[in-house]
Parts: sequence; C-alpha cells; structure tokens
Amino acid sequence: MMEKCLIAAVADDGALGKDNELLWHLSEDLKYFKRLTSGHPVIMGRKTFESLGRPLPKRLNIVLSRRPAAVPPEPSRPLLTAATLDEAFALAAATPFEGRIDEPDRCFIMGGGSIYAQALDACDKLFLTQVHTTCPSADTFFPDFDKGRWRELSRSETFSEEGLTYEFVVYGR
Ligand SMILES: NC(=O)c1ccc[n+]([C@@H]2O[C@H](COP(=O)([O-])OP(=O)(O)OC[C@H]3O[C@@H](n4cnc5c(N)ncnc54)[C@H](OP(=O)(O)O)[C@@H]3O)[C@@H](O)[C@H]2O)c1
Repeated sequence: MMEKCLIAAVADDGALGKDNELLWHLSEDLKYFKRLTSGHPVIMGRKTFESLGRPLPKRLNIVLSRRPAAVPPEPSRPLLTAATLDEAFALAAATPFEGRIDEPDRCFIMGGGSIYAQALDACDKLFLTQVHTTCPSADTFFPDFDKGRWRELSRSETFSEEGLTYEFVVYGR
C-alpha cells in the first residue's frame, strides 16, 4: 500500500508562500526535499507547478488542476494532470516511471496551501521543516491541524542558514 506523505516548509505562524513564491531559500532544506522525494510521485497544485516553472527531475510530477488543458505538456519528463485529489493518488499508485523507488512505496503532497488543506486528513506522514520565523505578510498558510491526531516520530538537530533556524520534523499517525 502506497504511503501518502506530505512535505512542507512551514514558518511558526504557518506561513508558506507569498506572490506564488517561497519565503526563503534554504539549501539544506532543498537537499532534504530532493533526497526524500526523488524516485517517488509528487503531487502539487497548478500554482505551485507554475512557480517551479518545470517538472522536477527523477520524480513523477502530478499537477492538480480543474482545467488540465492549462498545464502545458512536457515531453522530456514525466508530467501528468489530475482533476481531483483521488485521481492524483490513483495515478501516483499506478504509473510506472524510470527510477521509481518502491521501497518505501511513497508519494508526496508538495503543496501549495490549497492542496495541503485538502490532503492533510488523507496523509499517513508529514515531513515538516519548521522554520523559526513569522511572515504575517505571507498570502499562503499551512492549514490548522489537530496535533492530537499526530505523533512526532523524529526531530532533527537545528540548522542555521540565512539568519533562520529550522528543524526537520516527521509526524506519523
Ligand atoms: N513552503 C512550502 O513548503 C511550499 C510548498 C509548495 C508551495 N508553496 C507556496 O504555496 C503557494 C501556492 O499555493 P496555493 O494554495 O496558492 O496554490 P496551489 O495549491 O499550488 O494551486 C492551486 C490550484 O490547484 C488546483 N486545485 C486545487 N485543488 C484542486 C482539486 N481538488 N482538484 C483539482 N485541482 C485543484 C487549482 O488549479 P486550476 O486553477 O488550474 O484549476 C488551483 O487554482 C506559493 O506561494 C508557493 O510558493 C510553499
């Protein structure tokens, strides 16, 4: 059974992004994201896909849109569109692609805010980078979630970069 994971970098006040961009560029966090998600399907909203500008290599990219024709096809890398979250999970489970890793068999919800809000309850694990800052002017926030329904499985050492401190925290059920 494919494990449904969510991966996000979240400020202390829940801030995720502004003007369709991330709020920080933390190289250890980018490496962590790449290491965890490579070889697995990644599911994202159309706006997050547009902010990336291209499908991520070594991953099956699944873009959620209610108007899939708005997502341009990409010949060189695996890119699929889905019109519902359930369809995205079904594609993630069933679509082979080069370099797919089945141990562990995982897919990753990788944002943005609207997709996290819809997918949180369906997820088995949360990989959160907790960034110790607040960004009241952000326009996208992580959904409120009931910590009582999650168990902290691990917490990394604290990293410092660009004047920010952050930890990698994993929650399970
Ligand atoms: N900090 C982080 O870890 C992180 C990670 C990812 C993104 N972000 C940030 O988050 C922001 C973007 O988030 P967002 O909430 O504005 O946009 P988003 O979730 O990336 O994309 C929203 C779009 O997804 C599609 N969609 C949403 N729900 C759907 C559903 N149930 N079925 C089909 N399609 C669906 C719609 O596309 P259509 O309009 O085409 O129908 C909707 O307009 C950016 O600032 C980005 O940088 C932060």
